[in-house]
Amino acid sequence: ESERTLIVLKPDAVSRGLIGEVISRFERKGFRVLELRLIRLQRNQAEDFYSPHRGKDFFEDLISFITSGPIVAAVLEGRNAVEAVRTMIGSTDAAKAPPGTIRGDLGLGLTANVIHASDSHESFEREVEVLFPGFLTKERSAAS
Ligand code: CMP
Repeated sequence: ESERTLIVLKPDAVSRGLIGEVISRFERKGFRVLELRLIRLQRNQAEDFYSPHRGKDFFEDLISFITSGPIVAAVLEGRNAVEAVRTMIGSTDAAKAPPGTIRGDLGLGLTANVIHASDSHESFEREVEVLFPGFLTKERSAAS
């Protein structure tokens, strides 16, 4: 029943001093933090992470932005985590995200929209291997 998801606090969140505020919301909600790391993405890692968006008109801006400064990546665990976290972060365009959501309360941008979260279990498995290499194989061997 417990599920995992991945979040990325984007460079705008880190530079604006919002790491604690955002992580705190997930802790208060009841999620467990399984991994937490401050990193700076290389261009090739960023392109792997956002590979489903390759070819879209915003891809270059997205890659430039996500590599422009440090990010915080985390793996969260809890009931219905993928969907529950997406609900907490709000719609992609932070200017349109409702108050009460992370983007709605803390952001105004579309590319600089504070936070990313996996949109499915399949996305989680792909994304976690980019940011926490070996996470899935470590898990499987620990479970057996
Ligand atoms: P994210 O959840 O990280 O996934 C892809 C990102 O692309 C998205 O959040 C936005 O920050 C960014 N982006 C920029 N322009 C657009 C757009 N027109 N539509 C969707 N995503 C966009």
